[in-house]
Amino acid sequence: MSLLLLEELTAGRNGVPVVRDLDLEIQAGEIVALLGPNGAGKTTVLETVGGVLPALGGSVRVGGEEVRSVPRAAGLGVSYVREGRGLFTQLTVRENLQLRTHSRRAARDLLPRYPILEALADRRVGLLSGGEQQLLAVACALSVEPRILLIDEMTMGLAPVAVKQLLELVRDAADRGVAVLFVEQHVQEALQLADRACVLRHGELVAQGTSEQLTEQLEALHDSYFDMSMPS
Ligand SMILES: Nc1ncnc2c1ncn2[C@@H]1O[C@H](COP(=O)(O)OP(=O)(O)OP(=O)(O)O)[C@@H](O)[C@H]1O
Ligand SMILES: [Mg+2]
Repeated sequence: MSLLLLEELTAGRNGVPVVRDLDLEIQAGEIVALLGPNGAGKTTVLETVGGVLPALGGSVRVGGEEVRSVPRAAGLGVSYVREGRGLFTQLTVRENLQLRTHSRRAARDLLPRYPILEALADRRVGLLSGGEQQLLAVACALSVEPRILLIDEMTMGLAPVAVKQLLELVRDAADRGVAVLFVEQHVQEALQLADRACVLRHGELVAQGTSEQLTEQLEALHDSYFDMSMPS
């Protein structure tokens, strides 16, 4: 059984559909990129999987159980790094981890896993670089030992060295069995990290496949971004 299963999902805000009839399966340990131009509905999909938005039609299931709310999604093991990251910028790295895990001890035990964050443990998060903040946001999301990790705008605005560190962190999580669904603007970077990718355009799935398959169709993908032609 797929760990995450979207069947004929219709999703949107205030009852207005943005994404229609989306089918998507993700297995434990798999990394899937969600691509597409601005306004395609990528964030809408993540918010629906995270329980922030209700499904307007079809279903979102985790391990066979339907996601219907944020607490339900969390209970089923969905952890969500939203755009903006949701960190407490006035608090330190250590305090953010403590808040997320509800435990000083858990934060202390987790920090050595992330040498870059450990070196910054007592610095206020507002003083960190964007890349350091994104590493912390992902570390916080992973601290609850999720089965599914959702990341919106994963590398937006980050320096190449930070992107590399982040990709390694996400790959490590997947190697431990976490299923990852992430949104990314940089198609080539996304295809490097992901096992598979889906391309949304105007709320519809216009291409999907393994990263190798989509790399071969890169030109067609770019065309679909720029509204010229659709991949067949
Ligand atoms: N708060 C909102 N209220 C009403 N409509 C919204 C709201 N946020 C987004 N939308 C609309 O929903 C559609 C999909 O938005 P969504 O944020 O899911 O797209 P996206 O693929 O994440 O885009 P981007 O790449 O710009 O982040 C867009 O047409 C957008 O205008
Ligand atoms: Mg978005």
